Amino acid sequence: MVQVTPLLLVLSLALVAPSLSTRKCVLTGRWINDLGSNMTISNLNEKGEFSGSYHTAVTATTNKIQVSPLQGSQHNINENSQPTFGFTVNWSFSESITVFTGQCFVDENGREILKTMWLLRSSVDNSRDDWKATRVGINIFRRLSSRK
Ligand code: BTN
Repeated sequence: MVQVTPLLLVLSLALVAPSLSTRKCVLTGRWINDLGSNMTISNLNEKGEFSGSYHTAVTATTNKIQVSPLQGSQHNINENSQPTFGFTVNWSFSESITVFTGQCFVDENGREILKTMWLLRSSVDNSRDDWKATRVGINIFRRLSSRK
C-alpha cells in the first residue's frame, strides 16, 4: 500500500523549495565588500526600486569619508532568483559619483554574493582632464547579517 504521509511530505517540499530559494537575493539588508566598505539597502518598493546608505572604506580624495546616499533598482523582483541590479552613490564628501551594476548569486554554501562592477566619476577642472576622470573596478559584496 502507498504511504500517503511521506508522499505528501515530498510533494509539499517540492512546492515550498523553489519559493524558499527565491527568498534569497533580495538586496534589502547590510552588506560588506572586499575593500571593507559597508552599505545598507532599504526595503524594495513594488517596482524594485530601493535607497540606502554607503560607507566607503577608501576614497580617491583627501577628504574625510562620510556616509553617503545610494539609489538603485533590482530587476524582476518576483521572477529571477539571481537578479541583476544597479545603484548610484552620490558621495556626500566629494564631487564624485559612482555607479554600480551587478548580479546577486547564491554560492555553493547557500550564501548570497553580489558581484558588481563600478565606474567612479571624479570631477576635473576642465575637459582636457576628462581622460583621467573615470576609474573602473569590481567589488564583491557579502551579507553582513540576515534580513529581518
Ligand atoms: C571619492 O573618492 O570621491 C568617493 C569615494 C569612492 C569610493 C570607491 S567607489 C568604488 C570603490 N568601492 C568602494 O567600496 N569604494 C570605492
